[in-house]
Amino acid sequence: MKPLIVANWKMNPQTLADTKKLFNSVKKRIKDTKKAEVVICAPFVFLPILKVKGAQDCFWEEKGAYTGEISTKMLKDLGIEYVIIGHSERRKYQKETDEMINKKIKAAIVEGLKPILCIDKISQLERDLKGVSLKEFRNLIIAYEPLFAIGSGQPCPPEKAERMRILIQKKLKKRIRIVYGGSVNSQNAKEYIEKAGFQGLLPGGASLKAKEFIKIIKNVSRS
Ligand code: PGA
Repeated sequence: MKPLIVANWKMNPQTLADTKKLFNSVKKRIKDTKKAEVVICAPFVFLPILKVKGAQDCFWEEKGAYTGEISTKMLKDLGIEYVIIGHSERRKYQKETDEMINKKIKAAIVEGLKPILCIDKISQLERDLKGVSLKEFRNLIIAYEPLFAIGSGQPCPPEKAERMRILIQKKLKKRIRIVYGGSVNSQNAKEYIEKAGFQGLLPGGASLKAKEFIKIIKNVSRS
């Protein structure tokens, strides 16, 4: 399977002009990349303009009086395929609980979206995936994102990340895609795929620098 490279732009860039500039320089250079699947998770406001495949969050209710929220149907209607759910920054700043994350995962699956569930502890898996059937795991992606590695410039040693990947796989009893995130850059990207056996990466900071992001894609594509 091709590695899945998910760019998490978070709350960046700040203007539409800068967003288009970043997007176009990435797009131009990855046009012929066939050996990796690239998903850009842009902020909601830019989704219909860029027509990317990824979003950074969703709400669990179908519709109605939920000011500021975005439904899975709205995302699907825009052509979104993947949605990040349970990122540690949302768990921290928006106080998202495992219960809320579980509802979001289910809502995404019902709508036919592929949730990218971010965890940093094995214990979160059971709570976040409560009531999700093995059959539904088909479209699920798990992102192992150790808290200490996120935005810190201190990536997780690949051997340690690999141990977590194996534990996640064992716990879920089904082969699903597991990606690594946390200070991924063009230097370490390949190690997580080749040495630690991940099926993809979730770069944050590095995905905002066009050249660096392209290098990540090229480095894992060659493997
Ligand atoms: P980082 O972010 O690559 O900047 O560490 C990763 C993430 O938060 O998903």
